[in-house]
This record gives sequence, C-alpha cells and structure tokens, in this order.
Amino acid sequence: MHLTKLSDLSVEQIMGIIEEANGYANGQPLPDLSGKVVANLFFEPSTRTQYSFEMAQLRLGIKPLTFSAETSSVQKGETLYDTVKTFEAIGVDALVIRHPDKEYFGNLLGKISAPILNGGDGSGNHPTQSLLDLLTIYQEFGRFEGLKIAIVGDVAHSRVAHTNLEVMKRLGMEIHTVAPAEFQEPGYQWENLDDVIESMDIIMLLRVQHERHANGMELTKDEYHQLYGMTIQREARMKKEAIIMHPAPFNRGVEIADDVVECSRSRIFKQMENGVYTRMAVLNQSLNSMEKAPSFDSTLGTPFIPV
Ligand code: CP
Repeated sequence: MHLTKLSDLSVEQIMGIIEEANGYANGQPLPDLSGKVVANLFFEPSTRTQYSFEMAQLRLGIKPLTFSAETSSVQKGETLYDTVKTFEAIGVDALVIRHPDKEYFGNLLGKISAPILNGGDGSGNHPTQSLLDLLTIYQEFGRFEGLKIAIVGDVAHSRVAHTNLEVMKRLGMEIHTVAPAEFQEPGYQWENLDDVIESMDIIMLLRVQHERHANGMELTKDEYHQLYGMTIQREARMKKEAIIMHPAPFNRGVEIADDVVECSRSRIFKQMENGVYTRMAVLNQSLNSMEKAPSFDSTLGTPFIPV
C-alpha cells in the first residue's frame, strides 16, 4: 500500500508495475477509480512529479486535492505528521508526498493508514521516477539483464541516482558511475565519461542539484559541460542504438548541450510521458491493495503490495 522506497519491493513487484504501466502506454483500458480522492503534498518544487501524478489521477477518475505549503497551516507551525494526519482525518484515500527531509516517511509509517506514495525525499529516494526510467528502458530494449548504463553527474545529492543504483543492480544491469570528485560518494568505482561513452547502452545524466550544495559547485558551468556534459561530440560517439536519459529539469549547456536535448536518441520527453502511465499503475495497485488488505501493521508500516 505505501510506496516509500523501491528497495521494499521485490523484482516481481517492480516488473508487475512496469508491465501494467506499459499496458497503459499501449492503450490498455484504464481502471475506473472514481470516488477516490488523493492529496498531493509537495513541500519542494516540482513540475513533472506533481503534475504527472495529477494527470494520472484525473485519467483514472480520481479527484486530486492539491496542497500548497505556502498557504497552509504549515505557516503556523503545523508539523508534517499533523498535516498528513489531518488529510487522513478528512478522508483522503492516499497521499503523494515530496519533502526535503531524507526518509521523512519514517515518522509516518505505522501511524498513517492511507497509502503514502513518495514523490521524493531529499537526496534519498524517488521511486516513481525510477519506475518510469525502468519503463523507458524496458520499452527500448525489452530487458534489463546485461544492459550497460553510465549514471553521470551529481550522484551524491541525487535521489534518482540512489534509487536507480540500487534497483538497476538487482535487475542485472551493468552500472558505471561518473562524477566530479565533489559529487562522488563511497561505495562506487568512478570512471571517466570519455572512457565509457562508446560502450554504453544508456547514458543517464543527472541534474546538478544546486539547492543541495552548501557552498556551490567548484567547477564552472562550462568546465562541468566539457568534462561531464553530453556534448554534441560525445553524442556522436555513442553506440548506434544507445539512448540518452535525464530525469529533468535539465540545465541546458551544463549537463546536456542544447542541441542534444531533443536529438533522436534522447528519451527525456518519453520519460515524462511514461511518468503518467507509471503513476497510474502505482495509484491503481496502491488503492486496490488498500481495499483488499485493510488491516495494517501499526508498528512497522506495510510495504507496497501490488495486487
Ligand atoms: N524528475 C522530477 O522529479 O522532476 P520534478 O522535480 O519537476 O518533479
């Protein structure tokens, strides 16, 4: 019922969501979830996650309640827990939450019975972004096992990178990591982009997370682009069938050259489209598991259980 971390889900559960989302992408009839109400609580800025969740809700007949922290009682000091508890009390069926604190949901699980769908927790997890990334890869290659991916950029501050690194390893992908020293973290082997560019099936670029840097980036934007960016020259060196991904928003001329954003191997806007299919599948499975399994483990929280 909750979806807070993708690492809570088995490979079979992950594949179940991807297959359902791919069905929607291919025109499979949509379930009717009219009568359900979902609150979208975004305590950090968002365009793709917030509005593709809303679009998914509208397509399924769900009524979205959109919350603004700036005009809510958060301004009077109300805590996250009390805000979420309030939405549960007024009768929402699920909550989508994005919050700057890593693992903000630790204080909610076991106390909130409405499903919590994590729209991003600080630099921790972004499960629906990772699922839509996986759907995009699955549509392209029809498999995960053995695919070579380079994840490039601000790995240390990226919830997208952290979520994808864990799940892609479990799915049998060969992962390469590339980052400036200031964005590296322990546990990975760091490589040079020019050494891997010709052998990868997927290059996944990450946004430089300026808002999470205490002292700004050491490299200039131009230095970053030359050393770690997808330049026109690097795009030309990629394998014929290889694709470029980026969770967006992207910084043109920094992580990716302006002319590469919409080139034939870019799947950036396909990822956004897949965000709606993926979030429809997550909402459907979460709300259905709620109906079929109303009992709730009040001490540990209940992992997301697709039907
Ligand atoms: N990729 C992503 O999470 O985008 P938003 O921050 O716009 O939701």
